[in-house]
Amino acid sequence: MSKPVYILGIESSCDETAASVFRDDCMLSNIIASQDVHKLYGGVVPELASRAHQQKIILVVDAAFKKANISKDQLNAIAFTRGPGLIGALLVGVSFAKSMALALDIPLIEVNHMQGHVLAHFIRTNDDLRFTNAADAEHNRKSEIVDRKSFPSFPFLCLTVSGGHTQIVLVKDHLDMHIIGETLDDAAGEAFDKGAKIMGLPYPGGPLIDKLAKLGNPKAFKFPQASVDGLNFSFSGLKTSLLYFIRDHVKNDPDFIEKRKNDICASLQSTIIETLIYKLKQASVQLNINDIAIAGGVSANSGLRDALMAMKEKEGWNVFIPAFEFCTDNAAMIAIAGYYKFLKKDFAPQSITPLARMEF
Ligand code: KG4
Ligand code: ZN
Repeated sequence: MSKPVYILGIESSCDETAASVFRDDCMLSNIIASQDVHKLYGGVVPELASRAHQQKIILVVDAAFKKANISKDQLNAIAFTRGPGLIGALLVGVSFAKSMALALDIPLIEVNHMQGHVLAHFIRTNDDLRFTNAADAEHNRKSEIVDRKSFPSFPFLCLTVSGGHTQIVLVKDHLDMHIIGETLDDAAGEAFDKGAKIMGLPYPGGPLIDKLAKLGNPKAFKFPQASVDGLNFSFSGLKTSLLYFIRDHVKNDPDFIEKRKNDICASLQSTIIETLIYKLKQASVQLNINDIAIAGGVSANSGLRDALMAMKEKEGWNVFIPAFEFCTDNAAMIAIAGYYKFLKKDFAPQSITPLARMEF
């Protein structure tokens, strides 16, 4: 049996400071420190995010090693998010990873955050593996296990929906991905967050809209869906129409939002989901691909998850929905991407710098 590979993953692109340790493709630990400070401002404040990363990163990495029960000397490589993201926030993770790799004399691996979201589908956890004894579970020893995890088969389509991006990705291999459709303006997550802000709800709006939408009628109000060529999306018009809709109704009834909050949330959410599923179906038909995955923060949305399950029934799709802990930002997705890059010896130089915008 070949020697195991231990990878540390570091994520600091936005407002989560996260570290995760992997043994091959098995997750040993996944630590996330969220930054509550932004709630006061109704959105992420870049300068505060950088400072909070600086304060938390050592504690988070230490906790990741402790939970994984390995020592730093056992590490084979350090993977980090190079971009896209907030430049000051990225700088903290990149500088930390560079210093630690230099100190331990091990390779550095750069990871594109959006590719990480897609590769979250390849994370194995103890829950996926039936171990013959507790010691095997503790050490993720693969020789003694029965694997219950089913991975999407290549090529598959992944709808990656986050706070900053909305992409349909054609995934040909772990590291061979192509964006075949994306938003021309706001991301799906932004549509949720800005919609919530218009209604006076706190940041981040996505999870709250999801919760309130369960209590409302998705057909109560009709919002327009943008018609955009090809497999691209546009969500900025939806935000504007919600703004005017609220303004007009509040003029007549100042309590309108309070009275109809659940229905507005349900209607807004269903409009976003219908748009996403419509384009995803077009992509599936055009490319004749039936393995369909979702990823990114908005893939935690219960309406989107249900809509995808409905497509499984209706269209015969093989659907892949990440566990909740791997939808929103985390370092496990960076570590798994790092593992696949490690196998290809795709290492980064010490001179590497972060990128606020980053293609793949
Ligand atoms: O992937 P992510 O954690 O960070 C980025 O890379 O942007 O995504 C964050 C986004 C936010 O816009 C948040 O409102 C949204 O994901 N989100 C949700 C839900 N949970 C998180 N949107 C809708 N429903 C949810 N349950
Ligand atoms: Zn993300």
